[in-house]
Parts: sequence; structure tokens; C-alpha cells
Amino acid sequence: MENQEFLSEMKVKNIMRPATNRFYNWLGFYYFYVFIKKLSCLFLCKISPQTTTPTGEKMKKLLSLTLLLGLSTISMADAPLDNELKQAMAATGNIKNGKQVFKLCIVCHGTEGWGTIDGNYPQIAGQHPSVIIKQIADIRAGNRDNPIMFPIAQIKVMGGPQSIADVTAYIGTLKMTRKPELGKGDNLAKGEKLFYRKCAECHGANGQGDEKRFYPRLAGQHYDYVLRQLKWIQSGKRRNANKTMQKRIQKFKLADFEALADYISRLEPPKEITAPIGWKNPDFQ
Ligand code: HEC
Ligand code: HEC
Repeated sequence: MENQEFLSEMKVKNIMRPATNRFYNWLGFYYFYVFIKKLSCLFLCKISPQTTTPTGEKMKKLLSLTLLLGLSTISMADAPLDNELKQAMAATGNIKNGKQVFKLCIVCHGTEGWGTIDGNYPQIAGQHPSVIIKQIADIRAGNRDNPIMFPIAQIKVMGGPQSIADVTAYIGTLKMTRKPELGKGDNLAKGEKLFYRKCAECHGANGQGDEKRFYPRLAGQHYDYVLRQLKWIQSGKRRNANKTMQKRIQKFKLADFEALADYISRLEPPKEITAPIGWKNPDFQ
């Protein structure tokens, strides 16, 4: 997969890890470094009372650096989110197993993966695999609050990274609805203007998103779901939101969000990825 390249560049770490997390990590390293420096002096000072000798200084630096490196390796290992995302992205999804896992999703996202017309449940059909995988990993790592889905997203219930890959592969076989929930349609010119100025550079001119960069497809998503996400991105409630996007919409008013969500819900996904009107998923009839 192309995203493997992207993942290996570790860029994804910056999208995923909340800035505060990274800050505390580095703060921890710094304190540990200071602590080790003191510690190494404790016994190096005994060996050579003149701690200022060049060799003594060098030994101290070397010792603290070695320990610091050792610690950073350990702490890298305790990043389950990174690992799970990487593992699920690297795994080859099995559609047949994915169909079994998908049974857990139907009660909310529907047999077609279209979500609901009140926007309570998003349409997941047509979403980029990388986005589906990342959002599930984020939800179960507690990086994106979703109390409704959280219990189902547990490893015990839906399985490990391979199951995430499997269900994502199955969702990949589903086409999108052509009839998402729309807004009132009274402010579309404003929605269009805002979208092209502020959103299209990442989400694409047609709201198609970007599989490689984990940018969600927005076109054809339910109005109320998009509206709710925008409010939560602005307030910080959606904690895994892209920081540039969050900053960019800080001054937006409710009317701006409504216009945007309305415009986005009306953006038509390519015909090849939409289902005929009235289509039902034969796997669950
Ligand atoms: C009990 C209801 C429920 C079940 C079951 C459920 N979900 Fe969800 N899911 C939700 C809700 C609610 C949201 C949106 C939360 C929000 O508004 O932020 C969501 C969001 C998502 C998203 C993020 C969509 C996006 O565009 O960011 C994905 C992906 C997802 N679910 C996949 C699944 C999969 C796969 C399953 C089955 C293994 C599943 N869900 C089962 C309720 C559920
Ligand atoms: C710098 C790139 C960038 C810009 C600019 C940007 N977004 Fe996003 N957007 C993202 C990323 C990345 C995500 C996924 C966040 C995550 O889970 O890490 C996202 C998620 C979303 C979601 C949630 C989608 C879902 O399926 O849950 C909505 C809605 C959204 N963006 C709307 C907008 C709108 C409207 C604008 C313009 C005002 C905008 N974005 C500008 C990168 C961007």
C-alpha cells in the first residue's frame, strides 16, 4: 500500500499523537536526562574527585546519553496506538472475515454502511480505508471520544489489528448512498466559497479526501454528522482533529458551519462508488 511509505516516514505520528502527549514525552526525557547526569556524577565523582577533567565530563555525557537512548527505545514501545495503526495498515484485509466482523457494525451503520439520515451514525461506505483504520484505532485508543461505539471497538469484541483490516476490506466493497441527509439548501454559495478557500486544499475540490494522507472523504456525508464534527473540531472535543484545520475554523460561526455542512453533503461522490437508489446489501438480506 502506498500509505506504508507515508507511515514509515513517521509523518503519521505527528497527525496522530496529540501535541500534549508529545510534550510530556519530551519533558519526561529531559527530567530523566538531568537525573542521570546527577546520578552519574555521584559515582564518577568518587572515581575521580576532579569532575571537571575532560575524561570525567566525557564519561558522564556518554553514560547519560546511553541511558537516555535506552529509555527512549522503551518508551517508543509503549505507543500501542502507533503500533496498532501500523499493523492494521500493513495487514492484508480478508473480505470474508470482514463480513463477520461487519455484523457488529450493522446495528448502527446499517447493512449498507450508509449510517442514518439523522446523521447520528456516519456513512462509512466509500470512506478511504486509511481513514476507517485510523478512526477505529483512534476511537479504541481513547484518542477520539465515541462512547456509543467504544464498547464494540474493544479488542475483546471486534478483534485485533487484523480484524480492523478485515472489516475495512469488507466496507471497501460497499458503495455509497446517493441520498445522504442534506441541509436546508439556503446558503450554498457561502458554503461553496468557504469550502474552496479553507478546506479543498486538504479534502480535495470535490470533497474526495486523500487515502494516502488519511484525509477523510467528505462528499456525500450526512449533513448533521458533518455539522456535529465541525462543532467538535472547533471546540477541541474531537481530540484527534488535524491542528491546522482546527485553527482555521476557530472564528467560524454556526451559520458558517451550517453552510459548509450543507454544501459538503451535496457534493456528489463519483458515480462508480455510489449504489443505485434503493440498493440493499445482498449479504444481509
Ligand atoms: C452502537 C453503535 C455503533 C456501532 C455498533 C458501531 N459504530 Fe461506528 N460509529 C458510531 C457513531 C455514533 C459514530 C460517530 C461518532 C461521532 O459522532 O463522532 C461512529 C463512527 C465510526 C467511524 C468514523 C467515521 C468517520 O467518518 O470518521 C468509523 C470508521 C466507524 N464508526 C466504524 C465502525 C465499524 C467498522 C463498526 C463495527 C465493527 C462500528 N463502527 C460499529 C456508532 C457505532
Ligand atoms: C490541513 C488539512 C485540513 C484542512 C485545511 C481541513 N481539514 Fe478537515 N480534516 C483533516 C484531517 C486530517 C481530518 C481527519 C482528522 C483525524 O482524524 O485525524 C479531517 C476531518 C474532517 C472532518 C471529519 C470527517 C469525518 O468523516 O469524521 C470534517 C467534517 C472536516 N474535516 C471538515 C473540514 C472543513 C469543513 C474544512 C474547511 C473549513 C476542513 N475540514 C479543513 C484535514 C484538514
